[in-house]
Amino acid sequence: MAGPEAPRVALHEVAPRDGLQIEPVFVPTERKIAWIDSLSETGIAKIEATSFVSPKHVPALADGEEVLRRIRRRPGVRYAALIPNARGAERAAAAKPDEVNVVISASETHNRANLRMPRAASFAALAEIRRALEGSGVDLTSSVATAFGCPFEGRVDPKAVLDQVTRLLDEGCLAVTLADTTGMANPLQVKRLVGEVLARHPGLPLTLHFHNTRGVGLANALAAWEAGATRFDAALGGLGGCPFAPGATGNVCTEDLASMFEEMGVATGIDLDRLVALSQELPGLVGHDVPGQVRAAGRPMKLHPPPAYAA
Ligand code: COA
Ligand code: ZN
Repeated sequence: MAGPEAPRVALHEVAPRDGLQIEPVFVPTERKIAWIDSLSETGIAKIEATSFVSPKHVPALADGEEVLRRIRRRPGVRYAALIPNARGAERAAAAKPDEVNVVISASETHNRANLRMPRAASFAALAEIRRALEGSGVDLTSSVATAFGCPFEGRVDPKAVLDQVTRLLDEGCLAVTLADTTGMANPLQVKRLVGEVLARHPGLPLTLHFHNTRGVGLANALAAWEAGATRFDAALGGLGGCPFAPGATGNVCTEDLASMFEEMGVATGIDLDRLVALSQELPGLVGHDVPGQVRAAGRPMKLHPPPAYAA
């Protein structure tokens, strides 16, 4: 067991947003609420509960207001909602998540594909977003999508990502997430960029958001941790994906990531058995199997009886 001085990481559960946005079925609002309430009991630090985006473009999350109104907000857990524009901020100011996550891509083409506007328009919207949130008590944070690669443009210049982070902080964002939208990052690239961001902005609440599209998600998380990152997005069962990025697949799986850190002696605060039990229910929620591996294999110390000839 890790002690109070042991290293800690904070995990953010994004399956209710990143996970459900790409699912073809609409998970009934009641079930979303019950699911988020159960996630709140696992010791997770933050839950991205929904998004306030156009329901025409992402029908799976059209019930964001009702979800936020009816979940049981557990003290100590933060509840976030992703927004794309000022209209999203107005909805958030009324629904009052603890924070909004404004998404802006590092690459021009993905921004246009995802948000149907140039990056310049996304940046210009920040002032309006700030105004909409004023006095609401909702904190402003931002995600840099395609921070490690773009499915349309390929490589993304790390300097552009660094500049975007600086600009977001200048615009009043309290925290920043670097997102590898379609799993294009590699561990050395991650280590370098995280190191550069933290060197330029010491103490910045920096979150890393990896997708496991090419099987490198956990390696990237480890590289980010070695470079000083302590906050990670992940999705139960490995659900997730951006509907506007070709080839997108699931996030790093929360229980796999938590298991890795716990085995390393890095505390997550998560009740892993409880989380795995919730993950077992996912096929019933979304109607298909999910990629998470710890839920299939069991935790590492789940031992097996030896065959008779070896006993
Ligand atoms: N919430 C709800 N409705 C919204 C909205 C928001 N945040 N922003 C715009 N709308 C509505 C408009 O009121 C309008 O409604 P109407 O057709 O009934 O008049 C409609 O959506 C179209 O508005 P417009 O400004 O023309 O948007 P668009 O079609 O150019 O789309 C976005 C722009 C940003 C709204 C859309 O691309 C979007 O929601 N993207 C989010 C994508 C996403 O969630 N990706 C995954 C997470 S990274
Ligand atoms: Zn994502």
